[in-house]
Amino acid sequence: MTKEEWLSKLFQIEHYFDTIKNSYPKSDIRDIFLGKKGELTLLLKKISEIPVEHRKEVGLKGNELKKMIEEFVTEDYENVSEVLNEIDITLPSKKINFSFRHPITITLSKIIESFKKLGFSLEWGPLVEEDFYNFKALNFPDHHPARDMQDTFYIDGLFDSEGKNLILRTHTSPVQIRTMLKYKPPLRVISPGRVFRSEAVDATHSFVFNQIEGFYVDSKVNMCDLKWALENFIKDLFGNSAKIKFMPSYFPFVEPGAQVEVSCVFCSGRNINCKVCKGVGWLEMLGAGIIHPNVLKNCGYDPYQWSGFAFGAGIERFTMLLFGIDDLRTLYENDLRILRQVV
Ligand code: DAH
Repeated sequence: MTKEEWLSKLFQIEHYFDTIKNSYPKSDIRDIFLGKKGELTLLLKKISEIPVEHRKEVGLKGNELKKMIEEFVTEDYENVSEVLNEIDITLPSKKINFSFRHPITITLSKIIESFKKLGFSLEWGPLVEEDFYNFKALNFPDHHPARDMQDTFYIDGLFDSEGKNLILRTHTSPVQIRTMLKYKPPLRVISPGRVFRSEAVDATHSFVFNQIEGFYVDSKVNMCDLKWALENFIKDLFGNSAKIKFMPSYFPFVEPGAQVEVSCVFCSGRNINCKVCKGVGWLEMLGAGIIHPNVLKNCGYDPYQWSGFAFGAGIERFTMLLFGIDDLRTLYENDLRILRQVV
């Protein structure tokens, strides 16, 4: 090997080192250049092939590069050990705060999981809604007194095709109409989301809250199907000892309509002084019923061929019971010191 060949090889190795030094761990760089079969190690061995009078010169250049690579691969190790000498590694580390899901989200996931097992699929509806979907098609004609139960917010300057103001939806029931108009039966659907009412905020009320709607349309769907599905859901959520009972109630879009009550999850009706059920033993949890024939007709379904059940529930109410929260506002203020205690 001539002196020139040797120096040109050295130059190539230096160039190679510059190119890759920051792309690999330092231990790899050490192996590639200075290891037993490292590029530079092998070249340095070949010095013996060079005529004696040039050996000193190339040896100096080779050693220069070797020193540079050695310094590069040991640099950080030295820094780390210096730092480690200065700090007390036995001190406890800073507490890491892991994130967690909001109690409403946890509750909603549990509800969705329960209905998914029965083959229900998810649909979503808009929060800004037309009078037709929120009221009219659900069998609340204009000026019907049942509209009073759901006073809402009207959007200034935005109108539907009938010239009525757009509104913020008061319940998730309009998704029934939207879905029935979009698909053909049979349908098994749940639809969660935010709803709005013109209400003052207190421990059990808010102007914005979450509901979940569910409905099943097929031939010959009846009250027994409804009761079975809801019982299954309530047991999934609160355990096998939970019971449900149906009380007659009125909603324009179902007939018959029911208020569904669940045995008190805290005292099971055994404590007259129970703060949650006020000693009654039952908690009003959701509205439900058999879809009114007018609603089916409004969606183009023949009520003699198709029937269905529907239910609607407030998600916050379930969340409060599942997590033992007694003030709705806790869920919206998002004070982590409090939420951490319940989740
Ligand atoms: N939409 C009703 C409300 O917000 C709740 C409800 C009651 C939904 C009965 C239903 C139902 O689907 O069948 O007050």
